[in-house]
Amino acid sequence: MRIDVLTLFPEYLAPLELSLIGKARRDGRVDLQVHDLREWTHDRHRTVDDTPLGGGAGMVMKPEPWAEAFAGVRAAGQEALGDVEPLVVFPNPAGVPFAQDTAQEWSQRTWIIFACGRYEGIDERVYEHLADSGYEVALSSLGDYVLNGGEVAVLAITEAVVRLVPGVVGNAESLVEESHSDGLLEYPLYTRPATWTDPIGVVREAPSILLSGDHGKIAAWRREQSVQRTGERRPDLLGTDGNGAGEADGPTT
Ligand code: ADE
Repeated sequence: MRIDVLTLFPEYLAPLELSLIGKARRDGRVDLQVHDLREWTHDRHRTVDDTPLGGGAGMVMKPEPWAEAFAGVRAAGQEALGDVEPLVVFPNPAGVPFAQDTAQEWSQRTWIIFACGRYEGIDERVYEHLADSGYEVALSSLGDYVLNGGEVAVLAITEAVVRLVPGVVGNAESLVEESHSDGLLEYPLYTRPATWTDPIGVVREAPSILLSGDHGKIAAWRREQSVQRTGERRPDLLGTDGNGAGEADGPTT
């Protein structure tokens, strides 16, 4: 898989050299390249923004560097990959919520370009230009809050996507039962010692069923715990709060 990131702050993406994602890069499973958008400016000040037409607060990212950057990265990517088109992802609080099913889908992509906006946002004509030039474009939101730019979202999205690329997580089984993989939150986990006296003197036992060796019973208990935990913390995932999947989909009359 190839990932390109366009940003004004390449250093923000440094954590992608660490841990599992860093290893995936070194192992050649992911070719991840970070580009400074200012490479595609031509004036002395390397200008990427200007005041909003029509007035208003803050600054808007100019279209020209973006268009040149996409053309440059597209050409470089196609030289490496052949006749492949990238998925272009703009992290944006006004985008479609990013979730585990998105991560699954994107982990099967050959090539993703992340484009990190800053300031008030990017000139709208950039999106129009990309659509008219044959790019597939997605706006993706990490959640209902506003970050200072797309970089932190790219860190999160890249980690969620790349860990699902085959071979990146050593034990593929650990991807099967984790939170959201089956629409539920993960069951509680325990390790040794089975009996632990905590620092305030309380003796805390791990559930005895986990020591029973009965794998059928353990699986059933874990499932029960997952459902209970999901009901308490995220009833929207069960569709039992009046808003979630399964209840709000149909007509409301
Ligand atoms: N950029 C700014 N806020 C964001 C958010 N919540 N999700 C994705 N990208 C963003």
